[in-house]
Amino acid sequence: MDEKVNTMTAQSNNKNSVVYEIYVKSFCDSDGDGLGDLPGITSKLDYLANLGVDYLWLTPFYPSPQRDNGYDVSDYCAVDPRYGTMEDFDELVAAARERGMGIMLDMVLCHTSNQHEWFQRALAGEERYQRYYILRDGKGSMGPGDPGEPPTNWQCVFGGSAWEWEPRLGKWYLHMHDSSQPDVDWTNPDVRDEMAGVVRFWKERGVTGFRFDVINLISKPEVIDDVPGDGSACRALVADGPHVHEYLKELVERSGIDGMATVGEMASTGLESCICYTNPDEHELGMSFSFHHLKVDYKDGSKWRLMDPDIVQLRRVLSEWQEGMQAGGGCNALFWCNHDQPRAITRFGGTGLEGERGGSWEHVGKMLAICSFAMRGAPYIFQGEELGMTNADYTSIEQFDDVESHNNYRILLEGGSSQEEALRAIQARSRDNGRTPMQWTAGENAGFTCGTPWLAVPANHVRINAEDEVGAKGSMYEFYRELIALRKGSEVLADGTVRFLDTGSGAPKVIAFERVLGSERMVAICSFDSEGCTVDADSLGIAVCGDVLLSTHGGVGKLADGALALRPYEALLIAC
Ligand code: GLC
Repeated sequence: MDEKVNTMTAQSNNKNSVVYEIYVKSFCDSDGDGLGDLPGITSKLDYLANLGVDYLWLTPFYPSPQRDNGYDVSDYCAVDPRYGTMEDFDELVAAARERGMGIMLDMVLCHTSNQHEWFQRALAGEERYQRYYILRDGKGSMGPGDPGEPPTNWQCVFGGSAWEWEPRLGKWYLHMHDSSQPDVDWTNPDVRDEMAGVVRFWKERGVTGFRFDVINLISKPEVIDDVPGDGSACRALVADGPHVHEYLKELVERSGIDGMATVGEMASTGLESCICYTNPDEHELGMSFSFHHLKVDYKDGSKWRLMDPDIVQLRRVLSEWQEGMQAGGGCNALFWCNHDQPRAITRFGGTGLEGERGGSWEHVGKMLAICSFAMRGAPYIFQGEELGMTNADYTSIEQFDDVESHNNYRILLEGGSSQEEALRAIQARSRDNGRTPMQWTAGENAGFTCGTPWLAVPANHVRINAEDEVGAKGSMYEFYRELIALRKGSEVLADGTVRFLDTGSGAPKVIAFERVLGSERMVAICSFDSEGCTVDADSLGIAVCGDVLLSTHGGVGKLADGALALRPYEALLIAC
């Protein structure tokens, strides 16, 4: 095994490495079927190595009916033929390793597809496999065969009841996501055995990192009962459940992955839990994703109710998680984008390429990059983020693919929204915004496929694409390269303490923080303001410091009488 990958320890993995997420279905299509695939990724490894990333997190490419684009797994230890073969996978691992990059796989261990052999055998009457799932009688059922009502009022994440009646079982089964994704019962030791075996299988094939899908939902409450309100509160109840740490420790130990690059996706999680998930003394995971900072544009907490991002709230959440994880010795995964999120450039900067809400897409993208990469934790890039990709430009509901989008469009209409309002919500919030094909070129289908792409390519690929950006001075891609190199070469960014700074009353939309290690100090100043503003340079402690390591606009705004003028969406990383 390549030494570069092999000798990384848990500590250095988390703090010095940059992870790049590949949404396999949308990255690069090598055979013209309109879907990305493993050989497609292999063909782009030089592009990724040139960027400077250390790990490639691949979203699920296992056999799956694709109800949830592969997060509904029907066989954990195989490659779906539409994405390639096991040989293609081995080749990808080897070719990535040659270039100093490790492969991080997505483990979807909280639920299976209903097409998985275990569920099928449960349906066929095998009790052993019925015990793999969470089955209940209906409320008010008059006996076998009578469904009654769903056992509880729980609502699943994608909208609608979290229970599905299965006549072949004479029971309801729990699904926190789509009805085709039954949750497995982690209280069953056989299930835990199987899951450790899955992780070991891939580790033995040369995988050096793992991302665990909604892993904090594996331990359900002891008593499964109604929750107050419309039933969506069940998510908070299921999150960080009673035995989650015990199960994780066991999984990590039995699959032998302690110290590898591991990250857990933690839905509706809490700070204390994430400290425990990621403090190295606990021997659970290396890093955790939490999502509170990406809910600052949810009106009344609802994803489908639109409002502009609340930057004061964003600052509060980031500082709480940064300083809180630091105090507890945990490690945040740093990110704005992934395959479940709308593109951050559009979210924080508006929909136009230039001018809208005051700043250009490039300034917004670079500002977000500085903010994320300068924080304490492990930075993640989602494919296309390094190019400045934006939300999809779809104008009708038919153009969307995602099951969550379609469910919620229907729910919005049923709730009285007009078609126009419902579409606006989906346009802003659909997960498909992050899933549009990677924009490689300005040419047909953005160079993603020579066939028909499974999801339409945004028109702005003529402007935002890898071919034009690689090697072009000042481009987003080159900016990312510089930022990645800077981050990897900087001890203060890897190991320094973090503290959020007061920017003064004239700059409520500016987020600033310092990183300190010994006598070294860096300050990041990031304006989320679409208008110009001024920060109090004295209170940031930057009056006497000089070196601008990186800036969004080139140069620095004016520093006069202790006030630093910032242009719309300007960010600076300063060594003091
Ligand atoms: C995670 C994945 C998402 C998937 C869900 C259910 O949130 O990131 O894409 O739909 O889990 O597996």
